[in-house]
Amino acid sequence: MHRFSAEQEVNETTKKSSHVITITSGKGGVGKTNFTLNFALGLKAIGKKVIVLDMDLSTANINILMGITPRYSLVDVLHQKKKIWDIIEHGIDGINYIYGGLDIEELMDLDQQKLTHFWNQIQELQAYADFILLDTGAGISKELIDWILASDETILVTTPEPTSIADCYSVLKTVQHFSKQPPPIRLVVNRVQNYKEGLETARALQNATSNFLKLEVKTLGFLMEDTHVRQSVRSQTPFFISYPNCLATKSIKQIVAVYVPEINTNATSSPKGMKGIFQKVFSLGKRT
Ligand SMILES: Nc1ncnc2c1ncn2[C@@H]1O[C@H](COP(=O)(O)OP(=O)(O)O)[C@@H](O)[C@H]1O
Ligand SMILES: [Mg+2]
Repeated sequence: MHRFSAEQEVNETTKKSSHVITITSGKGGVGKTNFTLNFALGLKAIGKKVIVLDMDLSTANINILMGITPRYSLVDVLHQKKKIWDIIEHGIDGINYIYGGLDIEELMDLDQQKLTHFWNQIQELQAYADFILLDTGAGISKELIDWILASDETILVTTPEPTSIADCYSVLKTVQHFSKQPPPIRLVVNRVQNYKEGLETARALQNATSNFLKLEVKTLGFLMEDTHVRQSVRSQTPFFISYPNCLATKSIKQIVAVYVPEINTNATSSPKGMKGIFQKVFSLGKRT
């Protein structure tokens, strides 16, 4: 029943292109997945159509935060077994979730017929969603850099810890090695005790990136340290839903309130969209 609602909406809405955001951090355990899911719920709460795409191959876990098990992945679309609408899982609050399960290398071995099917299905996604959020794994891989360069923008998540800041810096250094003008990069400082700590952390990273890498990193916002985050992980219900008034949820709402008007005013006339991004990653992937 649910399954086809999005498909119908595509037919009803005029064709548009999604804004694709890669969310990354360098190292794991900084709160990237929790941010991705709750940010998605925050965007959905103000009426945006959102798809969360789990590209973390090693420890896919957005589904765990919602207590669901994905039945299919993008691989089923690649091999023409499924349509994109068949593999979308509806998590908490009806949030759309896709499990990637896909190694970009796999795209290279496909025959034309399969690729065409895949592109057509990806096209359907971008006609539907306002935002596609890509949760990525830990570590700096070539694939991560490809996603960052191909997306419309990147949100970097760090904590105030120097090791986490250093990991973000390493990601940016690698990005800068491949492109002097990457797509916009925004920073979220997670687990801050107060506003001042967020500001200081952001400044530390921004000073280093502007001095040594000549890269601009905008501050998107701060997420407070909040015990409700851990509790919501344990109960497998995102804090945005289970604790609507907790500090972490308030932080997410504030980030959404800052972010959406900015995107609307600075929107590029033609976001790359999901198909463009897969194609770009695909051709970048050929780089050896
Ligand atoms: N704002 C926060 N306040 C308190 N604990 C947090 C916060 N953000 C994340 N955590 C803790 O960090 C853990 C790891 O978060 P997760 O989103 O899985 O990180 P990542 O995806 O970066 O590996 C969570 O299970 C939670 O216990
Ligand atoms: Mg994660």
